[in-house]
Amino acid sequence: MSEILRIRDLAVSYGHIEAVKGISLSLNEGEITALVGANGAGKSTTLLALSGLLKAARGEVLLDGEDVGKLRAHQIVRRGIVQVAEGRAILTTLTIAENLSLGAYTRSDRAQIARDLEWVYALFPVLQSRRAGLAGNLSGGEQQMLAIGRALMSKPRVLLLDEPSMGLAPLMVQEIFRVLREINRTGLTILLVEQNVRQALRISQQGYVLENGSIVAHDSGANLLRDPKVIDAYLGG
Ligand SMILES: Nc1ncnc2c1ncn2[C@@H]1O[C@H](COP(=O)(O)OP(=O)(O)OP(=O)(O)O)[C@@H](O)[C@H]1O
Ligand SMILES: [Mg+2]
Repeated sequence: MSEILRIRDLAVSYGHIEAVKGISLSLNEGEITALVGANGAGKSTTLLALSGLLKAARGEVLLDGEDVGKLRAHQIVRRGIVQVAEGRAILTTLTIAENLSLGAYTRSDRAQIARDLEWVYALFPVLQSRRAGLAGNLSGGEQQMLAIGRALMSKPRVLLLDEPSMGLAPLMVQEIFRVLREINRTGLTILLVEQNVRQALRISQQGYVLENGSIVAHDSGANLLRDPKVIDAYLGG
């Protein structure tokens, strides 16, 4: 098991308020790592800093040992750290197929792009059957699938997800978790932020608990699910 991403002493501030207070974490290649915590803990801020959308006050982000922490957002995407668009920010006036091909805009390996498109359609059959339809006509859950599919089309090395199950009906939540597992089985590394702590830890090899901008626990997903403090705070006692 080899490390692909290491975050060292990452701090992020909004004005003079430090939202992320010098956190360190490590992702192993091919694993799902969960980052869980209450509202306002700093989870989204952490992902935005990794994506280069927020500037870190200090710290390092090492991808395969190389510091990508100072790169701009588009350069980070090219290195393979890709965040699934939040709020399902898909292009509603384009078709599903057009949205997916936009995901591959940084790539030129046409044959492989075509194979990846088939893979995304196999993961999400509803996207295939409606590929010529406008993305704006998809349900919230389907739009989330499209957002994930679009991120996959960029061939990420590390996929970042910020609460992919938020606001979805229970069946759709199950579907999203099923797909994340299936994506991970192909060897893709995932950093998963979730309020749905139980489900997230169940599919994660390891997890970190963030409280008020600091990491307060780190263990395997299975151990965190048995941790009395985690049960008490996040799993409804
Ligand atoms: N644009 C902003 N300007 C000022 N403060 C912000 C901004 N965005 C977030 N914060 C503050 O930073 C802290 C961390 O917020 P963040 O959104 O990262 O938390 P989170 O863990 O993602 O929470 P949630 O579970 O509600 O999504 C919070 O105290 C929040 O109020
Ligand atoms: Mg958030």
